Amino acid sequence: MSSLTKFSSFSLVWFLHFFFLLMLPLLCSSSSSSSSSYIINSTEEFRHYTAISEFRVLNRRSLLECPEPNPFLQVNISSSSGISDEEYVNVTVSGVLIPSTSDWVAMISPSHSDVSSCPFYSLLYKMTGDLSDLPLLCHYPVKAQFMSNDPDYLSCKKKECKKYRNDTCILTTCSASLTFHVINIRTDIEFVFFSGGFETPCILKRSTPATFTNPRTPLYGHLSSLDSTGASMRLTWVSGDKEPQQVQYGDGKSQASEVTTFTQDHMCNSSLPNPAKDFGWHDPGYIHSTVMTGLKPSSTYSYRYGSDSVSWSDQIQFKTPPAGGTDELKFLAFGDMGKAPRDLSVEHYIQPGSLSVIKAMIDEIAAGNVDSIFHIGDISYATGFLVEWDFFLHLISPVASRVSYMTAIGNHERDFVGSGSLYITPDSGGECGVPYETYFPMPTAAKDKPWYSIEQGSVHFTVISTEHNWFENSEQYDWMKKDMASVDRSRTPWLIFTGHRPMYSSQSGGLIPSVDDEFVKAVEPLLLDNKVDLVLFGHVHNYERTCSVYQNECKAMPKKDGNGIDTYDHSNYSAPVQAVIGMAGFTLDKFPNNADSWSLSRISEFGYARVHATREEIRVEFVNSNTRKVEDSFRITKS
Ligand SMILES: *[C@@H]1O[C@H](CO)[C@@H](O)[C@H](O)[C@H]1NC(C)=O
Ligand SMILES: *[C@@H]1O[C@H](CO)[C@@H](O)[C@H](O)[C@H]1NC(C)=O
Ligand SMILES: *[C@@H]1O[C@H](CO)[C@@H](O)[C@H](O)[C@H]1NC(C)=O
Ligand SMILES: *[C@@H]1O[C@H](CO)[C@@H](O)[C@H](O)[C@H]1NC(C)=O
Ligand SMILES: *[C@@H]1O[C@H](CO)[C@@H](O)[C@H](O)[C@H]1NC(C)=O
Ligand SMILES: *[C@@H]1O[C@H](CO)[C@@H](O)[C@H](O)[C@H]1NC(C)=O
Ligand SMILES: [Fe+2]
Repeated sequence: MSSLTKFSSFSLVWFLHFFFLLMLPLLCSSSSSSSSSYIINSTEEFRHYTAISEFRVLNRRSLLECPEPNPFLQVNISSSSGISDEEYVNVTVSGVLIPSTSDWVAMISPSHSDVSSCPFYSLLYKMTGDLSDLPLLCHYPVKAQFMSNDPDYLSCKKKECKKYRNDTCILTTCSASLTFHVINIRTDIEFVFFSGGFETPCILKRSTPATFTNPRTPLYGHLSSLDSTGASMRLTWVSGDKEPQQVQYGDGKSQASEVTTFTQDHMCNSSLPNPAKDFGWHDPGYIHSTVMTGLKPSSTYSYRYGSDSVSWSDQIQFKTPPAGGTDELKFLAFGDMGKAPRDLSVEHYIQPGSLSVIKAMIDEIAAGNVDSIFHIGDISYATGFLVEWDFFLHLISPVASRVSYMTAIGNHERDFVGSGSLYITPDSGGECGVPYETYFPMPTAAKDKPWYSIEQGSVHFTVISTEHNWFENSEQYDWMKKDMASVDRSRTPWLIFTGHRPMYSSQSGGLIPSVDDEFVKAVEPLLLDNKVDLVLFGHVHNYERTCSVYQNECKAMPKKDGNGIDTYDHSNYSAPVQAVIGMAGFTLDKFPNNADSWSLSRISEFGYARVHATREEIRVEFVNSNTRKVEDSFRITKS
């Protein structure tokens, strides 16, 4: 879910907002002399675009003049000679005369970005009716920390004397050191010292640029399946180099990569401004992808990727999924994960639960419990701040480089007004699904038609896009209808339907409903007609499970088995079991006090679903990623 979703209410809000901004100068000029200096509270006005933190609306601020520059200021970096692919970089700011709680340091990239003026962007924004002085930074600070993160800063424990008179110090300065977790984002970085907090920032001093030792390193390799055989595996990675590279796997096999990228011109073409196209843009380098073929399903291999000229990844062990139609599958599933910094920084969009979920999944994989992973929408939450795709890929690579990482698209990858998304909210920050589809190529039929099906073990997965037209007789509707009708249940006894936005959630969503009744009306009958066993959605940030539900009514209730576990008997099928599993990272949603009768389990904790499907049963466990405890479990059986 997001702070702003749902088209009808949004377009009205936008219209009023636009109208107000256009009218405001007229109203002001007729009334008083202050006509040219009215202030738009940018925090308020743009919170819905950029949401969440003060830091996130930084680009909406005027850059103020700092008072008299101080000649003693220095910004030093611990690794100016070259930063490795992952490093904790220490930044020392020294020569500060009066330490203040409002002092902060930003990491910016690329270093040649002009952090003091970009009039062209300003013009673009004015065309939309946004008349504030814009923008502060042409390139978004990647991350930032307040100087007070160093506990010795405000008390000036680290002193230096800059002027003596008669052996007495008459001028002392203070310093602070901050640690930044830096990953290889290819372009040069620079650290900039600001005063005035995020509300009234001014630039005091910049460091010299620092470069990555090897901007071309092949990084962030992740796997996906392209068919139901388990005999081939797609590997996708990122590098600063556009020449084809290789994956070497198995016993001496190798495949060359196909190389692609995207530019600002590929982002949403709407006339509305968006971060992806301008101040949120960061060069993605080159995305390499290739298919390892001739593998055996359910088998372990190793691979490395790269080339002699750019360098090679480590040797990585991976597992192919079981072939469709075989007896067993173990997978993890969740939605809405995102990423979070591994230092004290603020970033434009942080999903606090993501680190514990990844940590727990790394252990699951190490224990050999996982054949594949399904991440069902709201993937990185980069939402127009493209460097955060690198952050996300870095985060997931310990799991996604070892098992197939399958995805569905969410509102935060796709939605934007005038872009063909079903919902016209600005939730993708101007990405319109382009980075998502490039980083996560799924076995879909065509570009911007991100729906597909795949079979692994005893399960047929029908994966849809809730962000593209699903109304009756739409292309996607016809596809899902046909796909589900074609499932051979003697081959894959289980049918799991999945996508991003839920059909059942106790979380009403406030102004913008969590559940779209039109979606339920159009698609739910297909689930029943095709005897879907289990439905998995995200978007709402918690865990919730239903009875065998249809049209808001329990068609059957599960029975407790010998171990007290809720068991749904699908030998006598009545309706699908639905679960919301959007609890993998984004700040959790609370539940209301009252719940409808179809809601059987409600848990607001970070975690993921662990699913084990044989031919006789599907067993689902909700694992709390912090405690590793199973907080809910249920079985669906068929004899
Ligand atoms: C702007 O709005 C925010 C959020 O409502 C508020 O906290 C802040 O004080 C306002 N700033 C000004 C200058 O009015
Ligand atoms: C920072 O770097 C400059 C130039 O290399 C050096 O003179 C100075 O001593 C350094 N300051 C600190 C606090 O390390
Ligand atoms: C950064 O500082 C920490 C703690 O002071 C230290 O352990 C670490 O080695 C430093 N890193 C570098 C790259 O100098
Ligand atoms: C510093 O020393 C000079 C000469 O030695 C003397 O005239 C002056 O009064 C001293 N100043 C202070 C503040 O002690
Ligand atoms: C925007 O327009 C350009 C040029 O026609 C096109 O290449 C690009 O795919 C479009 N972007 C989207 C998201 O449709
Ligand atoms: C099958 O399910 C229906 C509805 O839940 C129930 O009324 C009926 O008793 C069940 N039949 C068997 C054989 O369990
Ligand atoms: Fe969402």
